[in-house]
Amino acid sequence: MFDDFESARMGHVAGLRRSGDAAGRVLTAADFAGAAQEIAQWEGYRPTPLVELDALAGALGLAKVLYKDEGPRFGLGSFKALGGAYAALRVLQQEISQALGRPVSPGDIRSGRHAELASRIVLVTATDGNHGRSLAWGCRRFGAPCRIYIHAEVSEARAEAMRALGADMVRIEGNYDDSVALAREEAEANGWFVVSDTSWPGYTETPRDVMAGYGVMVKEVCDVLDRPPTHAFLQAGVGGLAAAVAAGLRQQWGREAPRVVVVEPELAACLFESARAGRMTCIRVEEETVMAGLSCGEPSGIAWEILVEEASDFLTVPESFVGPATRLLARPVGNDPEIEAGESAVAGLAATIAAARSEEIRGALGLDAGSRVLLIGSEGVTDPDAYAAIMAAGGGA
Ligand SMILES: Cc1ncc(COP(=O)(O)O)c(C=O)c1O
Repeated sequence: MFDDFESARMGHVAGLRRSGDAAGRVLTAADFAGAAQEIAQWEGYRPTPLVELDALAGALGLAKVLYKDEGPRFGLGSFKALGGAYAALRVLQQEISQALGRPVSPGDIRSGRHAELASRIVLVTATDGNHGRSLAWGCRRFGAPCRIYIHAEVSEARAEAMRALGADMVRIEGNYDDSVALAREEAEANGWFVVSDTSWPGYTETPRDVMAGYGVMVKEVCDVLDRPPTHAFLQAGVGGLAAAVAAGLRQQWGREAPRVVVVEPELAACLFESARAGRMTCIRVEEETVMAGLSCGEPSGIAWEILVEEASDFLTVPESFVGPATRLLARPVGNDPEIEAGESAVAGLAATIAAARSEEIRGALGLDAGSRVLLIGSEGVTDPDAYAAIMAAGGGA
């Protein structure tokens, strides 16, 4: 059943585990609380399910595998709905407060009280799909124009989903990192506002808000668990998701917080290479991974600041794990519930399976029969054609 997950195909490097307070400083408890309080008031807000995959855990010799299924999040298909839209609201709040010379509340923006001012504030971003969808959705809710840059390999289905939410789409030659650069350049030239999920020197406030929004997932997990997981396997693109979850878990459970394992595609392993080099390192993405949301060559600086302290291990997974992991969720072990997951969602699960079955990595990561592993199923089926192809490739079994 697990023969496709050859652990020899994974890369593993130990984390740097520098000591420090980044988990409570880069993202504070107040950042998380502010985002959670606001997002809970949005129409359609409902915690996503934390699914227990007990049969799978048993088959892997683990106590628990807990899968936070972000597919249903706000009807947008991924956890990203929490980040971009919240950060958009914060930019509008700040700009409108400045224009009026007095503070306005997020509720004022949400209710459309300043619609005329909001309609003149253009928000832009580069995206692999999910972040842009969140921003486009937020802009439509809050009445701001939205412009989104996508690279050559972003599927037309993903582009159409953003267009349908009212965004102006700009497709470029080149890769994700090139699209980030162009979004920045054009925003600067035109007085638009970049709402990016990645940070760079001098640009940290908005990506911090994005990550504060992701903290809602941690709050929901903590609300339903009576004791902490022992491990969290977190897939990463620029590292915002992994760092936000790691910080939230540390704030919630202190010394009892789970061991954080960062998982990346081998084709886009910028955090893995950073850990190996002992400092933040960029790589050039030469070939696009099917895990589209994870295809990033440049870590987010503020995410790295947290992960350099909080991540105990960095793993890479090959492309060949994606299909089997997706199909395993759809056609589960024993009585486990069926889950439909997108390509980027399954990286953490795939790494857990391969790690649990490798004597060496299992030992290195401290996985045993008492382990309770938390996974963030970061997207549902956000690209139906890609999902259908993956399912078809597995035959009828
Ligand atoms: C579905 C999905 N999972 C995980 C990630 C990784 O998030 P981050 O880039 O913050 O590491 C992304 C990013 O776009 C994503 O879309």
